[in-house]
Order: sequence, then C-alpha cells, then structure tokens
Amino acid sequence: MKNISIAAMPNDFASAQRLASAMSVEFAPIEIRDFPDGETLVRASDAARQTILYCSLNNPNEKLAPLVLAASALRDLGAEEIILVAPYLCYMRQDKAFHRGEAVSQRVIAKLLSSWIDQLVTVEPHLHRVQDLGSVFPDIKSISLSGALLLAELIDRDDAKDDVLLVGPDQEAGAWTKAVAQKAQLPYVVLTKKRLGDRDVSITIPKEATVKGKHIYLVDDVVSTGATLASAATLLREQGAAMIEALTVHALCSSEDLKHLKAAGITRLRSTDTVSHETNAISIAPLLAAALVRE
Ligand code: R5P
Repeated sequence: MKNISIAAMPNDFASAQRLASAMSVEFAPIEIRDFPDGETLVRASDAARQTILYCSLNNPNEKLAPLVLAASALRDLGAEEIILVAPYLCYMRQDKAFHRGEAVSQRVIAKLLSSWIDQLVTVEPHLHRVQDLGSVFPDIKSISLSGALLLAELIDRDDAKDDVLLVGPDQEAGAWTKAVAQKAQLPYVVLTKKRLGDRDVSITIPKEATVKGKHIYLVDDVVSTGATLASAATLLREQGAAMIEALTVHALCSSEDLKHLKAAGITRLRSTDTVSHETNAISIAPLLAAALVRE
C-alpha cells in the first residue's frame, strides 16, 4: 500500500489534480452515481495509508453526505489517516443560536466532519466570534491557511501604480485587508457595514478616506450574493473612484450576481480557486502543497 495519495470528489478533480502535481503524489478519483430516488453510490478507486481527501464545501447540502460516504469507503480500503482538504469550509457563520431553537450549525458540522477525518486543512475559514479554528475542531488537528497573500500577488501582477487604494468593505475584512495591503505595499481603508437582509447591506466610508480618482481594489474573504461588494462599489463610484476591481478568496456568487456587480461598477472580480468559479485567477495548490508537505 502507498504511503500517500490524493482522492477527490468529482467537483474537485481539476483542483485536486493541481495539488497532486504540486506534491508529486498519485491522484485517485472518487466516483459518484446518483440513483433515481436521490440516494448516491460512492466508490473510491484507491487509498493510501495517509489519504488526502479533497472536497471544497460550497453547496454543502449536496456534498456532505457523499463526502462522509467517501471517507468511509477510503477507511474500508485501508486509509489509516484521512486529511480532508476543504479549501472552502461551510457552515462556519452560524456559531451560536441567534434565536431560540436555531441549530448551531458550526458545532454540528465540526462534530460530523471530526468523526470521519483525522485532520482538516482549509483556507480563510469564515469565522466570526470564535477566531481560532482549533477551538471549532477540538478533536482533530486543523490547519487554517491565509488567502491574503495570494490576493496581494494578483495586485502585483497588475503593476500597481500610485493611485491604487485597497478597500475592505466591512470591519470583519479589516485585519486581512491590512495583510493584503502590507504585502502589496499599498494604502488601504476599511468601510463600515450594516447587514439589513440577505441581499441588503448599508455601507459607509470613513470621513477621512479619499477615494476620488483612485483605482480601487475591493478585497473580501468571501463573495456570497455580492450585495456587500455591489453596495460598496456604488458608494465608491458616487465619491468619485476612477476604477473599481474586486478580489476575493472564495467566490460563491452566481452568474446573475456577477451581472449585478458589473452594473454596480466593478469592472472585474477575480478569485482564488478555493471554489471552482468563472472568476478564478490564481491557484491555491502551491499554498496547500507547502502546508501538507510540512506535515
Ligand atoms: C462578511 O462577513 C463577509 O466578509 C462578506 O462580506 C460577506 O459574507 C459577503 O456576503 P455577500 O456577498 O452576500 O454580501
């Protein structure tokens, strides 16, 4: 039996193959067949003692059951250690019951995954009140990688000029907008956001910020509906921004959402490939490989 291999769920074949080449290890696809009644047959082709299972957890409701079945199949084939690489980690927002009777999704999903895997590697998990991934997954080893430096690379390639300003659209984006700005050696400002509904946010710009004539890069960890970026862009345009682009780690938005972003004045949105998406502009494979090789 081999010592290490990479297995991947069908949606992740391309990204997992990039990781397999970056690590020079074998890639073993997982096959899935949906029955007419909605159940799924999962078949792992091979396992190694240490098997990396690649599954990005966007659209989690359709992915979680097949993922657990895949982990079980890999164990049956002899995997002694399963490392789940989930570049986008789902259900991290709901970390408490905001109203009586609500499930604390973060805790439930962490418990489910922890019972099937030995280690988790993810990128820029969307944590709020609990900042440390280790406290969310106390029973297994977990590694959280930062996507900030990758976004900074995208700016470097664009040959940034003096009129560039990075903008974090909300306080939560503050710390890592700063990290991107430091890496790219560019100035930044952080806006203030109030969420009024799933697709409704209100944003304000700090009084001292000057955006007139600037080439703006909006940077956010995740673009879900795009409401945050669209609202920030509208405001920045009103205040005279010359050009607005956006960079994100996890692009979850639909093609329709992308049209709204264009209409709001964002000329281009680029993302990392934590989630396979038409805006992907940079691969996380080298980042993942470096972390996994260190293990
Ligand atoms: C907020 O906590 C995040 O950093 C994002 O700004 C937010 O999740 C984006 O969501 P949407 O695209 O739906 O506004």
